[in-house]
Amino acid sequence: VVPQSPAESFDVFVKELGWELERKKNILFEKRVGGSITEGREIVGKISSFIRGRELEFEWNPIGWRKGGKFRLRIIFAKDHGGKLIALTTENFEAQFDNAKKEEQTAWFSTQVAGQIIASMGMAEFGDWITNRRARRPIGEAARETYRNPVYHRPNFMAILEVLGLSSVDCLIEIGCGGGASLNEALKSGCRAAAVDHSPEMMLLAKEVNSEAVTNGRLDVKLAQADSLPFPDTTFTCAVMTGVFGILIRPEAALSEISSVLKDDGRLVMFTSTKELRGTPTAPEPMASRLRFYEDHELVEMAKKSGFSAARVERPELARFARKAGEIPEEAIDLFSGRQGQLLIAQKQRDRQRPS
Ligand SMILES: C[S@@+](CC[C@H](N)C(=O)[O-])C[C@H]1O[C@@H](n2cnc3c(N)ncnc32)[C@H](O)[C@@H]1O
Repeated sequence: VVPQSPAESFDVFVKELGWELERKKNILFEKRVGGSITEGREIVGKISSFIRGRELEFEWNPIGWRKGGKFRLRIIFAKDHGGKLIALTTENFEAQFDNAKKEEQTAWFSTQVAGQIIASMGMAEFGDWITNRRARRPIGEAARETYRNPVYHRPNFMAILEVLGLSSVDCLIEIGCGGGASLNEALKSGCRAAAVDHSPEMMLLAKEVNSEAVTNGRLDVKLAQADSLPFPDTTFTCAVMTGVFGILIRPEAALSEISSVLKDDGRLVMFTSTKELRGTPTAPEPMASRLRFYEDHELVEMAKKSGFSAARVERPELARFARKAGEIPEEAIDLFSGRQGQLLIAQKQRDRQRPS
């Protein structure tokens, strides 16, 4: 039972299911009646019913090495419980099992259905799921609302911009721009900018939040990975990244890529949370325990290995920036008192070639 009307829950269900199956299982389905279901390159079935707010039905072709024939999974957005019930039923899937071994159906249900649901409710998987939606690749209404105006990230943006000292001659790149709020601040300097994020929803939100700059050709936002930036070498005078580094799986590859797209002497200013910020609105749970925190010297060493010559870390007091940011309530500002963020400030090594 979900707290949405059948039409609303149908839309969310179909969109999220589509992304999840494609990303994790390489299964794609066309969102229309008669649309194909493909697994890898093979067509494995079709969408036999697609009625918004009523039902979605997957009709699967027989599994090649089983005799059972076609089978179906129907997802019903039912009228029960005030129209908020989602029910799943199967038809003929039982024919895929070997009847002689009666325990198999129960075993499948136990491991592949109940087991998956139970694991998804545990602290580890549920925390991971929330971290994915809120930080690693933000998706959904709550993430869009947060990143449209990330109040508790604004002190970090201000700390970066104070050091960066942007002007109208700058051409900035932001990596992992989220909903584009820090770009919005940066563009006030008159600079030109580009940004990447690997979340399609964040990429769109960043464009929407900065629509005027996009229309005027001052801002280009692309869907891309931090370690594969879709821009020619030596394009930008400066780069920023905030709230991203501790999430990255290949942080050095990202630094090296950033260095490549910077001009000689181009500067990088990057904000990361420190261990002391764990549990504050800057690094809340369950994200905080899934972030990698770096020591200052580790950041400096990584930058130097990845194409930056000068590199140092400053530790700005966040309470000052939290006050300056304006929207943070006084009692929350106390949370920042005495706690510092970490700013990596680096300059690209001259004449550096992009690694092949
Ligand atoms: C915690 S959010 C921070 C967003 C924004 N910088 C801010 O401070 O409000 C992390 C962002 O980095 C993006 N991100 C994470 N890993 C990435 C990667 N490998 N390549 C590109 N973007 C990435 C996520 O999609 C998300 O929008």
